[in-house]
Amino acid sequence: MQPFAQIERLERAEVLDRPAAVIRSTVQRLLSDRRVKDALHGVWLGHPLHAALVHVTLGSFLSASMIDMVGGKQRYSSGLIATGLVLTPPTVAAGWTDWSASHPDQQRVGLVHAATNGLAITCYVGALRRRARGRRGRLLSLAGAAVSGMGAALGGHLAYHLSLGANHADRVRDLVPPGWQPLAALADLPDGTPVRRAAGEVPVFVLRRGQEVTVLADRCPHLAGPLSGGEVVGADGDARVVCPWHGSEFRLDDGCVVHGPAIAAVPRFEARVVNGTLEARIVASAGAPTA
Ligand code: FES
Repeated sequence: MQPFAQIERLERAEVLDRPAAVIRSTVQRLLSDRRVKDALHGVWLGHPLHAALVHVTLGSFLSASMIDMVGGKQRYSSGLIATGLVLTPPTVAAGWTDWSASHPDQQRVGLVHAATNGLAITCYVGALRRRARGRRGRLLSLAGAAVSGMGAALGGHLAYHLSLGANHADRVRDLVPPGWQPLAALADLPDGTPVRRAAGEVPVFVLRRGQEVTVLADRCPHLAGPLSGGEVVGADGDARVVCPWHGSEFRLDDGCVVHGPAIAAVPRFEARVVNGTLEARIVASAGAPTA
């Protein structure tokens, strides 16, 4: 049996749903300021902030435990534990922020991931406290490493198996057929209401506003929500589509993220009308159409 196969059972552990609901509403209440929430998701970074921070935080803790394991100098180990503890609050805050906008199976695994890491941090705090009393605290440091490893395995499952933090729209560029693709007769498109059409086999978001047409991938980069089911807000250069699942906002002009939890832009298409038919072709990257 694969050693980590049991983690999948956590995804279906509905017993975790009640505590998850309580914690989720608390986190959402604490994150009422959208600028703080966006910052913790990593919108400003274009990368999940939790994933960026966790490497340094966990790396500091594990390095400390390695020093303790080989009998290295305690002041180096203690310095690394202290570094990990200083970085713990922003790492935890970013993690809970991402967790609060995720699917139920991800939240179940995430809850155990957080509890495991909480136990690991308690071990490291205990190690420092013992050292303050003149003891070595070595066993607690090693226990912290063992528990951190379990927490990291759960975090890896969330990222690599359940794709929390991945860009769910990036592959659209590979799936769409090259060149111009017919989408619909322009006259059949409603004015001001997004609809779903297909470029080849790939669903696309189409919004006609008068003679202007916006075409984006119909797949939110956060967790693949259907943008064509979302609301359009704002006007002119500030017009945005709001994802119906967790409220990410994308600028219609260029697909860029205005508000998270998404941290990546939604793929954009060029549009043209030929003999009354709307056609679109994928833009390879900012402003560069494909051949
Ligand atoms: S799927 Fe989560 S914001 Fe779009």
